Amino acid sequence: MTGIATHTKIADLRRHLDDCRGRGSTVGFVATMGYLHAGHQSLMRRAAAENDLVVASIFVNPLQFAADEDLDDYPHDIERDTALCAEAGVDVLFVPSVDEMYPEPMLTTVTVVGISEPLEGRSRPTHFAGVATVVAKLFAIVGPCTAYFGEKDFQQLAVIRRMTADLSLPVRVVGCDVVREADGLAMSSRNSYLTAAERAEATVLRQALDAGLDLIAAGERDPAVVEATMTEVIERSDAASVDYVAAVPAATLVGSGPLGGEVRLLVAARLGSTRLIDNAGCTVR
Ligand code: PAJ
Repeated sequence: MTGIATHTKIADLRRHLDDCRGRGSTVGFVATMGYLHAGHQSLMRRAAAENDLVVASIFVNPLQFAADEDLDDYPHDIERDTALCAEAGVDVLFVPSVDEMYPEPMLTTVTVVGISEPLEGRSRPTHFAGVATVVAKLFAIVGPCTAYFGEKDFQQLAVIRRMTADLSLPVRVVGCDVVREADGLAMSSRNSYLTAAERAEATVLRQALDAGLDLIAAGERDPAVVEATMTEVIERSDAASVDYVAAVPAATLVGSGPLGGEVRLLVAARLGSTRLIDNAGCTVR
């Protein structure tokens, strides 16, 4: 027994959270696709520290996977996830079926233009509309809350912030630091796809970011030079191939001359059939 209340129905979750808010409780919310790790738990722990009640959702959202992506293979282990949620201070778990979330084909979707178009948007053209649509729906279901998202998915966080502001949703969006393995690899449910050899090489993403940050710290301001170095670090590994590298303003994620102000370095690379992303930021004066 974990003491967690698990709901599979939207109406039951709504009733539970409305009751709690009616008694004056503040609600913290963490949206996930499950197969949880310490990165997800860091969001839950922060939500527990800052709110009276924490709700987490586990839903592998078909709308955000393209036809050739890993929807059917996405890892899952609900018993282990429930234990990890309990350990991290979650009170209420929402685990809807696809039918509960999408009883009919969606005729209404949420598209955030601009910020969702470069980088991940170019590699995965339908992805962010799927994310924005499910997160808008989850926000509508959970209701007024503070919602915690990881900077691991930096562009996703930016898309969700913009959607929440544009639609005046009653949610405060909080970004949280990337949690990493001891060797620097950003934690991800998809790391479980890596073979032992690929796992050993997967540290090149973090190494590429570090090389970029070092160059900027040494005075380099040309994004093309920083990006070329990041590419070189990744391509040094036989196992890894670059999908994209970028050194861009953190606010727009689109290049605009010499680096200045808040800068974000972002990488996406494939190791075998697994696609991994990572990012890091710095301030350039
Ligand atoms: P998922 O990949 O399960 O991630 C859920 C949340 O955990 C996201 O906010 C993500 O940024 C955060 N997260 C994942 N790995 C992290 C790490 N190493 N450090 C810190 N935070 C980390 O992102 C999604 O699910 C989905 O797109 C979702 C928002 C749930 C919509 O379906």
